[in-house]
Amino acid sequence: MPVHPHVTTNANVKMPALIYGTAWKKEHTSDLVVQAVLNGFRGIDTACQPKHYEESLVGEAIGRLSNHGIMREELFIQTKFTPLAGQDPQRIPYDPNDPLEIQVASSFEASKRNLGTDYVDSLVLHSPLFPYANLLKVWKAMEEIYHSGGARQLGISNCYDLELLQRLYFDAKINPSVVQNRFYSESGYDVELRQWCDEQGIIYQSFWSLTANPHILGSKAVVDLAQKYDKTPAQIVYRYLTQIRIVPLIGSTSQQHIKEDLEIFSFELTLDEMMGIQLI
Ligand SMILES: NC(=O)c1ccc[n+]([C@@H]2O[C@H](COP(=O)([O-])OP(=O)(O)OC[C@H]3O[C@@H](n4cnc5c(N)ncnc54)[C@H](OP(=O)(O)O)[C@@H]3O)[C@@H](O)[C@H]2O)c1
Repeated sequence: MPVHPHVTTNANVKMPALIYGTAWKKEHTSDLVVQAVLNGFRGIDTACQPKHYEESLVGEAIGRLSNHGIMREELFIQTKFTPLAGQDPQRIPYDPNDPLEIQVASSFEASKRNLGTDYVDSLVLHSPLFPYANLLKVWKAMEEIYHSGGARQLGISNCYDLELLQRLYFDAKINPSVVQNRFYSESGYDVELRQWCDEQGIIYQSFWSLTANPHILGSKAVVDLAQKYDKTPAQIVYRYLTQIRIVPLIGSTSQQHIKEDLEIFSFELTLDEMMGIQLI
């Protein structure tokens, strides 16, 4: 079974180089997570956001996996605090009238119950809050969770503004370890932000890696490399991302794709080949 490599974050946490994403899987969440992990995934991304994620079914899968001899400690589990603006008003997993810091604490208690674990490997703020004072309040509440041993590292998602990220980084006591962003041309593929993240040891997690980039998947460079290595264009793109230190989130529902995605570590693109893949 291909157990894929890890990267080490600035919090000294070993994070799998590919992470299985659980958004939009509804009642299939548990079966798909079990399938992904049995095939070799060890990282799981979810959120305390019932609108898009079935966090309790991720917890069910974690329980089922122990029956297969795969224990919770072998898994990298990442969840998110989703601010009110990102929640379905009918299914908010905390009291929206509570102060922000209590919302974060309640959301995290719900995540622990849902996941059946007393700690997560990574706790991510789903999107920045405005004004900045609110973002800082939430971050401090996440730092409390970190200090109490509830989260081994912290991160932020949907943060495309480098100045905002830098401001948070310098104000935080516990620095972000991951930034989870849409990987697409509209943000210029976050080139500057990623470079700065690299310098701070912050790991960039990508989503929309395939769906937003049909032009890359269909490009001559990628198609030629797929032929050369006897891989699919999707495998070439995921391999490329891992070689530029990006950790892609992969939410595939197909067993064949799950297997193929885990097989990308069986080959390595050369520097020249990497240079040939144009992002924009
Ligand atoms: N922080 C945020 O706001 C945010 C937002 C969106 C997503 N996410 C996270 O990111 C995860 C991934 O979401 P995503 O939007 O990037 O899309 P995705 O769920 O990874 O799916 C993208 C598409 O890629 C296809 N695919 C996967 N591997 C393939 C392969 N080897 N060959 C061909 N097609 C392949 C999938 O089809 P098949 O199912 O047929 O394989 C699917 O249609 C989510 O589950 C979630 O955890 C986070």
